Amino acid sequence: MCGIIGYVGFRNARNIIIEGLKRLEYRGYDSAGIGIIEGNLHIYKNVGEIENLEKSIPQIDGRVGIGHTRWATHGKVSIENAHPHTDCNKKFAIVHNGIIENFKSLKEMLERKGHTFSSETDSEVIVHLIEEKYKGSLEEAVKKAIKELKGSYAIIAISQLEPDKIVGARNESPLVIGVGEKENFIASDIPAFLKYTNRIKYLNDGEICVIKNDGIKIMDLNGKEIEREENLIKWQAEQAEKAGYPHFMLKEIYEQPHSIMETMRGRISEIEPWINLEIDFDGMDEVALVACGTSYYAAMAGKYMIEELAGVPVDIELSSEYRYFGKKRRTVLAITQSGETADTIGALKEAKMYGCKTIVVTNVIGSSATRFADHVLLTRAGPEIGVAATKTFTAQLLTLMLFSLYLGMKNGKLHANEIKNYVAELKRLPSIVEEVLERENEIKEIAKIIHDKNTVFFIGRGINYPIALEGALKLKEISYIHAEGFAAGELKHGPFALLSEETPVIALASKDRVYEKVMGNIGEIKARNSPVIAIAEEGDEDITNFADHVIYYPKLSFPLFSIPIAVILQLLAYHTASLRNCPIDKPRNLAKSVTVE
Ligand code: M6R
Repeated sequence: MCGIIGYVGFRNARNIIIEGLKRLEYRGYDSAGIGIIEGNLHIYKNVGEIENLEKSIPQIDGRVGIGHTRWATHGKVSIENAHPHTDCNKKFAIVHNGIIENFKSLKEMLERKGHTFSSETDSEVIVHLIEEKYKGSLEEAVKKAIKELKGSYAIIAISQLEPDKIVGARNESPLVIGVGEKENFIASDIPAFLKYTNRIKYLNDGEICVIKNDGIKIMDLNGKEIEREENLIKWQAEQAEKAGYPHFMLKEIYEQPHSIMETMRGRISEIEPWINLEIDFDGMDEVALVACGTSYYAAMAGKYMIEELAGVPVDIELSSEYRYFGKKRRTVLAITQSGETADTIGALKEAKMYGCKTIVVTNVIGSSATRFADHVLLTRAGPEIGVAATKTFTAQLLTLMLFSLYLGMKNGKLHANEIKNYVAELKRLPSIVEEVLERENEIKEIAKIIHDKNTVFFIGRGINYPIALEGALKLKEISYIHAEGFAAGELKHGPFALLSEETPVIALASKDRVYEKVMGNIGEIKARNSPVIAIAEEGDEDITNFADHVIYYPKLSFPLFSIPIAVILQLLAYHTASLRNCPIDKPRNLAKSVTVE
């Protein structure tokens, strides 16, 4: 999984590409490189963050170039393995995102023909194939080369033999074209060039494009030209920047009152039909939810919502398991913030193969998942750059709430009055999240208690169980503290052995039908001397008899309370990581979207 960018135009390509790579760093950041044509082809690479590359390369004046930020899949992190890769004679250069599954056999074949390889990567075969196939047209050579590839790829190629163009191709990895005036862009994602243009054209799987400063040509693999409409992106460039916050994660946590409003916009009203999702619900008498990571915890929460509000039985499956072992339910709903997670795309393809109706809940318009699914429910949270999912998680929860309510309304499980009450509560959500954000200082104080601990547990029952799992994931991924989430009733079946005065337990104690049970579990934990920090509903005085500390959220009913609780846990993870001086937006070994299986 990597980020790639290409530029052709009138500006300094080096600067545009470095800037674009910084916007793409969330896709991987173990090494980076650029290739610029200025007379000849000039390649510069370095390991580590883009800044390392930027500092190590000269100012060069070319107007055409490509760049890459890498998250290693084949071959260790090294300058040799960083992209761009070049052919034997250094006339062609490519950057690649994806995995070439048949690279070993291709490499052997190319070596037999006399090609010399200088990296351990799968990607390098692409540029040698292009060299092999080149007969005077770069696009023809790319077309012929990709016909031999098995696997996933987004490729951008340049050549000093045709210095006025860049050629792009895609299969199962994202690539989008930015349309400018006397300049054009191509990249893995829109923020890479959003500062310069918000006019975009999507490239589909099996397509190739030739981009010059004065034109863009998109073709299929037979060379047939394709007319592609232009889309206007409404995100502002500054939305993709930190806007004064120390980290993208904090900015994204604070964007939640707005993103929640966006998720609901046009989908709820105080008059009939109350909830409208423009989706056909036929055949939704059984549903499988598939997802990975944080999105999987949203799926788990979705099960509680759909079963309770719509009375429809739900399976939940990790995408990586569903691909191989999943039960074939009539409707499969995939949840993926990025829309590019390879495991989830694989699960979607599997579901389609079995004739299931497929729906994707995603944040990224035009992402691969949106192309495979029959229906798309956009979460509309805006771009999320921090590796840790925050506003996209609450947008997923909210989308699943709307889905459950709509389904319950359609199948008669919910009465009009119940739906009206939910709509009224939903409308309060943005201001309730604002209230929670105002408690940041209280949450910071709790972070001071846990930041030097080795292990933190999170417990909850019902919908608070997946929210506890997500709280633990958030803490471990950005603060590197070992954290685990449990169904509150499960601690006594083993994890109790780990409890001590040094093991804080974060207990999610909403006033729902299992509240008393959670109180009982907190009592058991206190008897083992572990500090308990409860997250509870405002007005709950009883909790203070059990917990050492309490963070309150405004009263809300099931399942809405899961959203303010998730926000509290995000702030807790953020401040704990901040006290530990962790690289919050780019935790070690992780990347924003995982496009490998
Ligand atoms: O883009 P997706 O929602 O499909 O990503 C799935 C996971 O990789 C993702 O949620 C991951 O767990 C997050 N970084 C957690 O914050």
